[in-house]
Amino acid sequence: MADTPAHGLLTNKVGLVFGALDENSIAWHIAEAIHREGGRFVRSNAPVTKRFGSLEGLAEKTGSPIVYADATSMDDIAAVYARAQEDFGQPCDFVVHSIGMGLNVRKNRAYTDLHYDWYHKALDISAMSLHRIIKAGIDVEAIANGASILSLSYIAAQRVFSKYSEMADAKALLESITRNFGYWLGERRVRINTVSQSPTRTTAGQGIKGFDAMYEFADRIAPLGNADAASCADYCVTLLSDLTRMVTMQTLYHDGGFSSMGISDAFVEVFAQALDGESLDSESLDSEAA
Ligand code: NAI
Repeated sequence: MADTPAHGLLTNKVGLVFGALDENSIAWHIAEAIHREGGRFVRSNAPVTKRFGSLEGLAEKTGSPIVYADATSMDDIAAVYARAQEDFGQPCDFVVHSIGMGLNVRKNRAYTDLHYDWYHKALDISAMSLHRIIKAGIDVEAIANGASILSLSYIAAQRVFSKYSEMADAKALLESITRNFGYWLGERRVRINTVSQSPTRTTAGQGIKGFDAMYEFADRIAPLGNADAASCADYCVTLLSDLTRMVTMQTLYHDGGFSSMGISDAFVEVFAQALDGESLDSESLDSEAA
């Protein structure tokens, strides 16, 4: 993780972090950053992750307990809130949803040939789970007035990234839930936003065939290059803090500027080299453009 100094942004705040699997996970970095900023939290991940054993390391570092819960089960999610209420004796000031799973993507099924049970599951795990997590928290009054809710999205919610397949639909739904629930949460001054992050080398990210191309492409297009998980975590803790108390219902790009770009010199150079260097190089492109 980056050597960011602590700012005490989350002193006295408590919450939940869903989706830290291993030290590459975006949620792992977020958990470390929350800990650095003085926040306390309960972690949760799918029951199947128990056997990986990787989650214990984060427990040692951050002192956070884990409750294994399937994000598609209301009962499981309720148990996560119950543990937080037991440990903290107060409702959550923040909730981080960093969960994603594209079954068709993993099995390399084309968007035009989706297996519909897997599609349904992908939407349920990756997007509807955000709705469930909020609803479960509201039901037991475990989300504090003024709390901040955060999830992770990807720009494929708006534009076509051909290998991202069903996950693009999942992210579009996630962003829609962010807007629609944001309206209802506003009366309690609860904020909800989603951070649209650069391609990041994680288990979920690398499960996408063509991930390396997406990663390298974005890295060459973005003026700042791809944002890594540690910088994403630094951004996320500002969104969980009171400093951003009037920001809600937004898709916030954390992508080194990728989302505002069309094409860059860095990409033109690589592309020109990959094509016939004789007939299409940067110089001939420049002169054709002129
Ligand atoms: P990751 O694989 O480390 O995290 C995904 C998490 O989802 C894992 O911890 C996994 O156990 C959990 N999960 C899967 N099924 C679950 C279920 N049924 N119940 C509970 N948890 C379940 O990968 P990463 O990349 O950190 O993913 C976190 C979020 O960031 C996801 O929403 C992902 O789509 C998003 N994101 C990732 C990008 C990337 O390039 N890696 C780019 C933009 C967004």
